[in-house]
Amino acid sequence: MYRNNPLSKMPWESFLKLSPEEKGPYFMRSDRPYHALIAQQFNRPTLDRLCELASRIRRIAKTRGGTLFLRDLLSEKRAMLYFAQPSTRTFLSFYAACQIVGIQQAEVRDTATSSELKGESPEDSIRTFSSYFDLIVMRHPVGGFAEKIAWMLSNSERPVPVINAGSGKDQHPTQALLDIYTLQRSFERHGGIEGKRIAFVGDLARGRTVRSLALLLTLYPGVKQYFCAPESLQIGGDILAALDKAGIEYEISSDFEKIIPEVDAIYMTRIQDEWDTAQESRQIEIEKFHFKAHHLQALKEEAVILHPLPRRKEISPDVDSDPRAIYWRQVRNGMWIRAALILTIFDREKEVDRYYHDLTS
Ligand code: NCD
Repeated sequence: MYRNNPLSKMPWESFLKLSPEEKGPYFMRSDRPYHALIAQQFNRPTLDRLCELASRIRRIAKTRGGTLFLRDLLSEKRAMLYFAQPSTRTFLSFYAACQIVGIQQAEVRDTATSSELKGESPEDSIRTFSSYFDLIVMRHPVGGFAEKIAWMLSNSERPVPVINAGSGKDQHPTQALLDIYTLQRSFERHGGIEGKRIAFVGDLARGRTVRSLALLLTLYPGVKQYFCAPESLQIGGDILAALDKAGIEYEISSDFEKIIPEVDAIYMTRIQDEWDTAQESRQIEIEKFHFKAHHLQALKEEAVILHPLPRRKEISPDVDSDPRAIYWRQVRNGMWIRAALILTIFDREKEVDRYYHDLTS
């Protein structure tokens, strides 16, 4: 257990006053994540290390011996997957990641089946989880709630790490990690992510995956970001301010067809209409932000199309068979990078390095 936890020395009111950049170091243990809560806590060496580790785990898992080795790494630990919002891929990839590294997992996916239905506060429910489990992976509709939990647990008698698996309209840092891993692999033979032009398309105002990824991309020199959306769904001013501060070039646009031939990666997203108050997004003419089969002709030969999924009509299914459509590979990458993150949190990644070196030497 990580007792020397900087969050435990900080009063809640002081913590609340910090900017995300200032909060970041409180979630780290020297250069490794202890909690994984916001994109701002990651630096470039940490991202590179997580990607390297994910690839090593992927390689080791190719053999039965390797799979058994990995499965023993965290077999004494238990994880709680607490998902208070719908999820398919994030939940299942965390579940599969837990299986890969041998951490035993339990789940609450519907607060109506827990004592929250009897009026227990989510804080008390999670405090209960921390009595039984060594890691909490949580998705919650309230932005910032995972941070509050991390602070609360750090100041309890069982300070366990917390991973944010999606917090309201705010952030989805582990999705951004898998997006980075996917981009890195895609551009491996084409000079890396550095200097690439990357477009975000769709609901950028409420899409938490976009917000986290836009922040992580500031760590790659020369990347130009394009935000392509109807005006009412454009990216938040806080993200643009962070980009300005980092000296990142970006373009705001509503002309999807114009940017298709210009960019190296297109990150499509769905309309997040679960946040509508009066079905307002129904009024928006969204079709011109959909990627159709005929758009493939305009796309650069080495460009890639990503999507955090689930999709609706943003990408027509006949695009799926094009080699530039990499969203299904992106899904699988989520499992490897999350396994890497869990191992890193528990400081067990050096055993993977040793096994990998023996395997490849
Ligand atoms: C995303 C999410 O939940 O924010 N899904 C995911 O985790 N892959 C994107 C979405 O729901 O549109």
